[in-house]
Amino acid sequence: MANHEIGGYFGLELGRGRDYPHAGALHLNSARNAFLHILESVRPSRLYLPSYLCKSMMEPLSRTGIPHEFYHIDERLEIASLPDTGSSERILYVNYFGVKAQYSTRLAQRYGQSLVLDNSQAFLAANTPGTACIYSPRKFVGVADGGLLHGSAPPTERLEPDSSVDSTRHLIGRLDASAAQFYPDYRSSEESLANRPLRAMSAFTRAVLRSLDYEQIKLVRERNFWYLHAHLGSENRLEIAPPEVCGPMVYPFWGSRPGLRDRLIGNRIYVARYWAEVLSNPRRSSVDERLTNELLPLPIDQRYGTRDMDRIIETVLRA
Ligand SMILES: Cc1ncc(COP(=O)(O)O)c(C=O)c1O
Repeated sequence: MANHEIGGYFGLELGRGRDYPHAGALHLNSARNAFLHILESVRPSRLYLPSYLCKSMMEPLSRTGIPHEFYHIDERLEIASLPDTGSSERILYVNYFGVKAQYSTRLAQRYGQSLVLDNSQAFLAANTPGTACIYSPRKFVGVADGGLLHGSAPPTERLEPDSSVDSTRHLIGRLDASAAQFYPDYRSSEESLANRPLRAMSAFTRAVLRSLDYEQIKLVRERNFWYLHAHLGSENRLEIAPPEVCGPMVYPFWGSRPGLRDRLIGNRIYVARYWAEVLSNPRRSSVDERLTNELLPLPIDQRYGTRDMDRIIETVLRA
């Protein structure tokens, strides 16, 4: 091996963070590729998956040609009718918004290694031993890529590391200028993750992930979440039980105030739509349609405090 470089210019200097929750995981280049790795190594005879899901998780299914069947979720985001899985089959469930922790554990007890738990929206929830668990860090912290996988055998050959050099402009741009100005760069960074070969996580993403304080991140997210819930919970059609919430991604608000999404965005409070593509799935249910159209994922992350939450509450209640 060549000697490592000594001297010369500095790179971005990142400190050492605390309580990184995924030290024991396989570090890959996206969550969908973590899923791809499971499908390639297990080759299940069939996969059950929710019709309420983002399209990127369909990519590993078409790449491997694994037969699949959609199931529906109910208004509590739980599987409406539990399928019986054979030993060669697998079932994917999403710990939606990081507010289905206890239910995910119950599913793991029932399905064991037949379950693939998608914790892409629950980066701070611990993995469940005996069940493959997938994580996607960039939905929680400022990285451009990366996926983590617990509970699955590593690839038989050493994976080449991916590079984040061409997909991180929006991270710097958001600090220097604004989210709106660098939104096109964010979009092209996201698009660059499509159909990417399975690789190990880039050294850059690893270094950023290792530099953060996860206890603090979890604390702030939960504090903001419960603050919003105290003010908006009575209008939220989604039942939120405290033991189900663990390091949530957003506050999922399922209200009935028409035009609220536009009002929030007009007030520079950015809310995503999970997931527009669900509306073109012929197997979608009426619950899927309502969740896609009506559920507003309100920001509660570690960048924000009580004054920001007050601005969100005010905007919601004024609509
Ligand atoms: C629930 C869920 N699982 C998995 C993924 C895929 O994650 P990644 O983009 O890291 O492949 C996404 C969205 O991108 C998602 O919303």
